[in-house]
Amino acid sequence: MSDKGNGLSVVRSRMSSNRASSLLRVGRAVLFAGAIALALGATARVSSAADDTGQDTFKANCVVCHGEDGTGTATGKALMAPDLHSDAVQKLTDAQITDQISNGKNNMPPFKNTLSKDQIKSLVTYVRTFGKKKK
Ligand code: HEC
Repeated sequence: MSDKGNGLSVVRSRMSSNRASSLLRVGRAVLFAGAIALALGATARVSSAADDTGQDTFKANCVVCHGEDGTGTATGKALMAPDLHSDAVQKLTDAQITDQISNGKNNMPPFKNTLSKDQIKSLVTYVRTFGKKKK
């Protein structure tokens, strides 16, 4: 308190401006925490939408041969693509399906250079959904 002259009123106004700025700081911290919560919420939403991503990736890359419903288009059947609902496909492990998509096999082209690991992972999840809604 080395203020000279204006005495108490200056001290008071200093104190209140200190208090105001510490309130501001708290406010900023709350906002910051809110932003983090929002960001986390957004991430959670993205990962719970993994099925959508798988479906989009499937539509963009796989329907030419496997068809939207996974049973296989005329092209796919001509190339000997199996029905993705079949036990033969559904009994494969996730690792085998990942390998099939990444490296291809026989008439199926490899996708490891065009799709990310995450996209391939979501495709495996999506291929699994054909097993659940068996025809
Ligand atoms: C050019 C046509 C074509 C495209 C495009 C294609 N596939 Fe295939 N797919 C095939 C053929 C043909 C087979 C059978 C391969 C074999 O003989 O093992 C197959 C087999 C599969 C199998 C079964 C694997 C097995 O061992 O039986 C899965 C799962 C599969 N494809 C998923 C996909 C996914 C996911 C995509 C998109 C990223 C895709 N395919 C794109 C033609 C295609």
